[in-house]
Amino acid sequence: MKFKKRILCIGAGYVGGPTMAMIAWKCPDYRVTVVDVNSQRIDAWNSKELPVFEPGLDKIIKKTRGKNLFFSKNIEKGIAENDIIFVSVNTPTKTFGSGAGKAPDLQYWEKTAHQILENSTSSKIVIEKSTLPVKTAAAMEKILTPAKGKAKFEVLSNPEFLAEGTAIKDLENPDRVLIGSHETKSGRKACQELVNIYARWVPRNKIITTNIWSAELSKLVANAFLAQRVSSINSISALCEKTEADISEVSRAVGMDSRIGNKFLQAGIGFGGSCFKKDILHLAYLCNYYGLPEIANYWESVIKINEYQQERFITNIFSSMFNTLTGKKICILGFAFKSNTGDTRESPAIHITRKLVAEHAHVTISDPQALKNAALDLADIHENIKYEEDPYRATAGCHAIAILTDWDLYKKLDFRKIYKSMTKPAFLFDGRNIVDHKKCFEIGFNVYPIGKPAMSHFKIKKKSTISL
Ligand code: UDX
Ligand code: ADP
Repeated sequence: MKFKKRILCIGAGYVGGPTMAMIAWKCPDYRVTVVDVNSQRIDAWNSKELPVFEPGLDKIIKKTRGKNLFFSKNIEKGIAENDIIFVSVNTPTKTFGSGAGKAPDLQYWEKTAHQILENSTSSKIVIEKSTLPVKTAAAMEKILTPAKGKAKFEVLSNPEFLAEGTAIKDLENPDRVLIGSHETKSGRKACQELVNIYARWVPRNKIITTNIWSAELSKLVANAFLAQRVSSINSISALCEKTEADISEVSRAVGMDSRIGNKFLQAGIGFGGSCFKKDILHLAYLCNYYGLPEIANYWESVIKINEYQQERFITNIFSSMFNTLTGKKICILGFAFKSNTGDTRESPAIHITRKLVAEHAHVTISDPQALKNAALDLADIHENIKYEEDPYRATAGCHAIAILTDWDLYKKLDFRKIYKSMTKPAFLFDGRNIVDHKKCFEIGFNVYPIGKPAMSHFKIKKKSTISL
């Protein structure tokens, strides 16, 4: 078949894979190739067991793979043969040298820019898809400037807003598609090419075009705002635990104000995932760079509250279990940073597990999708840690359960059966507020939700209330 357009995506990760699958599905007359330096990843994309778990993804891959969607290891050939190149490589936070722990590590992205330059003999549209710091497009242009022969590059910014676990839904029905381009004739032409791709399935009024800086900054700001909401509600959950307020009731009442809205107001153990922390750090780095330390501090406090929330959760386990965890068996239900994904990047479960093991607890980790990644994250811990997918086997004999991921599966567990199999007194720390606390308390558990009064069978002297 003769294809109308040829698209390449460099980077076959959580963003590149699903996004290209959607484009291939919605544009059957376009040939889409996805390449990656990680050859195992490419093999996995070409196999039955895809490298990322995403509801609905396998169906789309089945419909497109081998027809107009191809996964390949040949990056050079891919660059030479395609006119539209999406760059979707990883941009983690630097772990070394200047800006360590704050600035983005751009080595993968820069290597890609050089590869594009070296292997291009014709003009191309290069689209930054990965979350990148503002001004990356400008830097990319600098690298691409001394192109061979007549090859010209037009760089666009097209940040991805999909959330893991709902990637297919988000890609098919996005709230908006954002495309940043230069306000020049060639910039607008390139922008139109990309608009034409998305317009195949996204209503035109949802496709926003802006200048490059605005597109790059909007991505960071959108994630920073979402993370800020999570930290805001988590900060209030701490206050609820000290008073008799209930965070679910507060969250509901606050979220019903249409100016505020009800999303991202679910209190828990703090946000994880590859984007929120990284993007806020980038934003703060940018603010400091431009001489705005007060603004940088403001955004950094969102991360501080996130860390505080995890510490609070750990302290609560420790103090509720009589200030010693030595030799106690604790089952972690859920290791992924959220439900419906196997991704564990920045998952609060990593830090919480490490702290429990440091207290000499014996930890069993259970998760329907994330056990492989959990074992990699904790590869340096050789003692007192076990992995067990089945939640009933994982909880049997334990002194405590800590629910760390909001998997639907955990809402439906038979807690009576679980309670019977546990060591008594049995503790339940619900880090996501997803189970029926009253019912679990009646079964016999000592229940510790987030932002709600604990339900304990121990007789504790009631603290006197503050007189105002
Ligand atoms: C996020 C953005 O939502 C997405 O637009 C962007 O493209 C990438 O970053 P993602 O990290 O996949 O997506 O997940 P998201 O659903 O945003 O959740 C992030 C974290 O916040 C998770 O750990 C989740 O459990 C937590 N969260 C979310 C809460 O604790 N409470 C909430 O109310 C919502
Ligand atoms: P994201 O969540 O942003 O998609 P991932 O880490 O899942 O991030 O995916 C990024 C992918 O980019 C990884 O599979 C990585 O191997 C790939 N990658 C990094 N550098 C290059 C490169 N120079 N060329 C091709 N692929 C690359």
